[in-house]
Amino acid sequence: MPKERLSQDAARLKTLAEVNEALAGASSLRAALQRVLQLLDRRDSVVCSSITLLNPDTNLLHVEASEGLTPDGQSARYKIGEGVTGRVVESSKPVIVPRASKEPMFLNRARRKNLERKDISFICVPIRTLKDPVGAISIDLPFETGRDYQGYVRFLAVAASMIAQAIRVNHLVDAERKRLADENVHLRGELQQRYDFANIVGTSRPMREVYAQVSQVAGANTTVLVRGESGTGKELIAHAIHYNSKRAKKPFVKVSCAALPDSLIESELFGYEKGAFTGAQSRKKGRFELAEGGTLFLDEIGDLNPSTQIKLLRVLQEREFERLGGTQPVKVDVRLIAATNADVEGAMAAGTFREDLHYRLNVFAIFVPPLRERKTDVLLLADHFLERYAIDHGNSVKRISTPAIDMLMSYHWPGNVRELENAIERAVLVCDGSVIHSHDLPPSLQTGEASGTVMSQSLGDAVEAYEKDLIADALKSTRGNRVRAATLLQSTERIISYKVKKYGIDCSRYRD
Ligand SMILES: Nc1ncnc2c1ncn2[C@@H]1O[C@H](COP(=O)(O)OP(=O)(O)O)[C@@H](O)[C@H]1O
Ligand SMILES: [Mg+2]
Repeated sequence: MPKERLSQDAARLKTLAEVNEALAGASSLRAALQRVLQLLDRRDSVVCSSITLLNPDTNLLHVEASEGLTPDGQSARYKIGEGVTGRVVESSKPVIVPRASKEPMFLNRARRKNLERKDISFICVPIRTLKDPVGAISIDLPFETGRDYQGYVRFLAVAASMIAQAIRVNHLVDAERKRLADENVHLRGELQQRYDFANIVGTSRPMREVYAQVSQVAGANTTVLVRGESGTGKELIAHAIHYNSKRAKKPFVKVSCAALPDSLIESELFGYEKGAFTGAQSRKKGRFELAEGGTLFLDEIGDLNPSTQIKLLRVLQEREFERLGGTQPVKVDVRLIAATNADVEGAMAAGTFREDLHYRLNVFAIFVPPLRERKTDVLLLADHFLERYAIDHGNSVKRISTPAIDMLMSYHWPGNVRELENAIERAVLVCDGSVIHSHDLPPSLQTGEASGTVMSQSLGDAVEAYEKDLIADALKSTRGNRVRAATLLQSTERIISYKVKKYGIDCSRYRD
C-alpha cells in the first residue's frame, strides 16, 4: 500500500473517532450533527456539506445540519426520489456526481455559497437505521481529476452508520420522553379523579361538615391541620384539598414524619448541599423544593422531633429555609397541610410539641370523625370498597348479605375506614359466590353478639350461620315472601318457616 494512502486512512480513522465522540457528547441531535459536519469540513477542503433527514410526518426531506449552505439551501425541501438526495434516500445507495456541471439531474436546490467559482464533485451517502432510510449526508468537494471517490464513499458510509445509530437512540429517547409525558398527564387525570370529592364516600352529617370545610379552605393558600384517629381518611382529605385548589396541576408531596428517623428528616425536608456531610456527593433537593408551586403534606406531624419543629416553624414564618450545609436561603411557594392523630394538646402540655408551631399549623383545623360516630356511612363505604375490590380482583361479588350488614353495623370499628376497607377486601377474596356472607368477614367481627356465632365455631354452628344467611338472603330478594324464598332455595315453605322461627329471622324487615 502506498505510504500516502496509508496516512490518508489513518487520518480518516482519526476523524471517525472524533465523529463518534461528537455524536456521543453533544447536548442535542442537531448540535451533534453540526459538529460532525465541522469535523468533515476540516478535512479535504470541503466546499459545503449537509445532513438531510426524513420527516416521517410530512414524508419530506429537510436539511437538519449544514456547513456552507445559503439560507435558501438550508430551507430546501425534497420529496423521496426527487433530485440526487431524494434518489439516494429512495434507493439506499450512494451516488457520486464527479462533475456537477455535467449532471442534468442535479437539482441545485440546496444552493451552495461560493458555487459560481469552480466546478464541484458531489457525493451523497444514505443514512439508514436497521432497514429504513432516514436521510442522507452530502459533501461537495472541489472538482479534481483522478480523485479516489470509492474510498471517500466508504469513509462517509461509516460516518453515516454512526449517525444512524445516534438518530435511533435519539428517537428512542424522544419516544420514551413522550411516553412519560403522556403517562404523566394520564396519571394526573387519574389522581384528580381519584381524589375528587365524588370519591370520598359518606353522606353522614359529620362528613358533610368536613366537605363544607374542605371546599371553604381549598381555594385559599391557608395552612390546614387535619386531625382525626388513624384510618379515618385524613390523607384523603389532604388530597381533596390539593386537587380542588389552584395548585392541582402542581405536585402533591407527602412526608411521613413518623416513618423517617430523626437523623434523616431534616435532609429529606430541606435537602442538602454537596459536601454537607460525609456521603453528600452532590446537591439534593428536599421535599419542600420538590413541592414548589404545589402542596406539601406532613403526615403524623405530632411525631416530629424538637429540632425539626424549630426549622419548620421558621419556614412557616419566613417562607424560606437553607439546605443542610448551605448558606443561601431558598425561597419556596408551597402550601402546607399537616395531619395528626396524636393528642396535640397533651403533647404541648408535656412540652414535646411546640405551642408556637401548633399555632402556625392550626390556622384552619379539620376534624375527621371516627367511623363509629358515622355509622350511616358504613354501608356506603362497604359497597364502595366491594365494587372497587371486585374489579381489582376480577371477581363477580355483587352485594353483602343482610346478616353480614348487621355485623358490619354493630361493630365498633377501632381501625376506622382503613379497617373496614381491609375487611371488605378480604371478604371479596374469600367469598366464593356473588354475595358476601357473615362468615366471609374477618374473625375480629365475629363476636357472639354481632353474628349469633362465636369465634371458635363448631361445624354445627358454622352450618347454621350459613343456613341463616342463605334464608335471610332469599327472603331479601323475595321481599319477605316465604313461599318464593322456599322455591329459590329448592326447599318447602314448611321447612323455611320452621328455620325462620328457629333463627329468629324477622321477615317483616324485608317487606318495604
Ligand atoms: N370517606 C372515605 N371514602 C372512601 N375511602 C376512604 C374514606 N376515608 C378513608 N378512606 C380509605 O381508607 C384508607 C385510609 O384512609 P387514610 O386517608 O389513609 O387515613 P388516615 O390518613 O386518617 O390514616 C384509605 O385507603 C382511604 O382511601
Ligand atoms: Mg394516614
